[in-house]
Amino acid sequence: MTILTTQISLLLLLLLSITTFYKSLCSNHTVVGCNEKDRETLLTFKQGINDTLGRILTWSTEIDCCAWEGVHCDNITGRVTKLDLNGKSNFDNEPFLKGEMNLCILELEFLSYLDLSLNEFDVIRFPSIQHNITHSSNLFYLDLSPFRYHDHGPLHMDNLGWLSPHSSLKYLDLSGIHLHKETNWLQIVNTLPSLLELQLSHCNLNNFPSVEYLNLSLLVTLDLSLNNFTSHLPDGFFNLTKDLTYLDLSQSNIYGEIPSSLLNLQNLRDLYLSYNQLQESVPKEIGQLAHIQQLDLSENQLQGSIPSTLGNLSSLNYLSIGSNNFSGEISNLHFSKLSSKSFRLDLSYNSFSGSIPHSWKNLEYLFYINLWSNRLSGEVLVNLSDWRRLQFMNLGENEFSGTIPLNIPQYLEVFIY
Ligand SMILES: *[C@@H]1O[C@H](CO)[C@@H](O)[C@H](O)[C@H]1NC(C)=O
Ligand SMILES: *[C@@H]1O[C@H](CO)[C@@H](O)[C@H](O)[C@H]1NC(C)=O
Ligand SMILES: *[C@@H]1O[C@H](CO)[C@@H](O)[C@H](O)[C@H]1NC(C)=O
Ligand SMILES: *[C@@H]1O[C@H](CO)[C@@H](O)[C@H](O)[C@H]1NC(C)=O
Ligand SMILES: *[C@@H]1O[C@H](CO)[C@@H](O)[C@H](O)[C@H]1NC(C)=O
Ligand SMILES: *[C@@H]1O[C@H](CO)[C@@H](O)[C@H](O)[C@H]1NC(C)=O
Repeated sequence: MTILTTQISLLLLLLLSITTFYKSLCSNHTVVGCNEKDRETLLTFKQGINDTLGRILTWSTEIDCCAWEGVHCDNITGRVTKLDLNGKSNFDNEPFLKGEMNLCILELEFLSYLDLSLNEFDVIRFPSIQHNITHSSNLFYLDLSPFRYHDHGPLHMDNLGWLSPHSSLKYLDLSGIHLHKETNWLQIVNTLPSLLELQLSHCNLNNFPSVEYLNLSLLVTLDLSLNNFTSHLPDGFFNLTKDLTYLDLSQSNIYGEIPSSLLNLQNLRDLYLSYNQLQESVPKEIGQLAHIQQLDLSENQLQGSIPSTLGNLSSLNYLSIGSNNFSGEISNLHFSKLSSKSFRLDLSYNSFSGSIPHSWKNLEYLFYINLWSNRLSGEVLVNLSDWRRLQFMNLGENEFSGTIPLNIPQYLEVFIY
């Protein structure tokens, strides 16, 4: 009897230890599997994709979806948090994703990061109403900008209403997607209270909606270049934001004056307004934007003299105001406080007169200077050894006199006549 009990208890003990051993073996290797619902969503997204070059071959049902190319899961919950399928790494051999970009992917409840940029999708598909987004969105990064804008006809979206639930967005890039039917783009952007960076370049935007009651106070970067606004900048446009450091409105068919409310953008570092139809003179307040590094006003119809206060800007490393109707003397433009280690200056194709300021010989970090086609005169007293960093100098099509510096180093491109 006792022998039997002992045998049974031994057997039980053995069984117990085997299961424990097995359990601990398993839990060591436990990776929380991909969430079933998330996997379904990813598979629906995959259905539309034409992956001729096998970029997402790993997206197969035999493999846990957390291990699929570009998919990142929370390692405790197994929920998909990030999808990164941008085409950047593929520039050499072009294995871009094509076909349909199905935005059902936004139904991933815990998605915080989505990058589908630099691919060649042919069409964007919006999920039907029954797949409406009802969860509160964690998405903070969204980049859908295609690689080639026009190869298959541009991608387009009729409206941006689908963005509104994504109120955690900090970074939004829809550059290259045509939005010309969306007239309320700015109001919708305004419903994204966390937005820091907005890239809507080359979107065929064609209107500035009324900016009343809007507040984009957190925005730091705004790129609206390459659109077709065919209008003035609304008066209060520069009142919308305060912290903007980067503003690109170039090649956007903007008319009229540069509003003096520009002065509100006290943190601005880069301002690009080139290739528009801007007129009248430059507001003198521009010289009070103390942090400006790059200022491009070229290819407009701006006129009058340029405010000498521009010469006070100490961080400037690029000033391009070529191809306008500016006039007046440049001799009152002193860049005496420059602290940048490289300086490019383009005043070409204007009607500036006067002589080259003597103080410019102190522009130790002058890298590029283009004064082509103005009415500048006087003696060229340039001593090239003052400008040791210089790579390019064009003084041609002016009325200069005097001696031309000899022994120009070979690396230097110089045009004097
Ligand atoms: C997938 O893309 C290739 C290359 O662009 C194209 O030849 C093919 O017709 C596409 N297939 C489908 C189903 O769209
Ligand atoms: C889970 O993820 C966190 C943060 O991504 C990481 O620090 C941690 O090491 C991961 N844990 C395991 C068990 O992989
Ligand atoms: C969800 O459906 C409602 C009602 O049809 C609609 O107003 C809303 O824009 C939809 N939201 C999204 C994200 O599609
Ligand atoms: C804009 O919003 C910010 C923060 O949300 C707030 O501090 C500021 O007062 C608002 N500005 C206006 C003009 O409503
Ligand atoms: C810009 O818009 C105007 C007016 O709507 C139109 O006539 C013009 O063709 C557009 N330009 C481009 C480049 O699309
Ligand atoms: C813009 O703000 C300035 C003060 O910062 C104010 O004087 C001006 O009236 C505002 N303009 C508009 C159109 O709101």
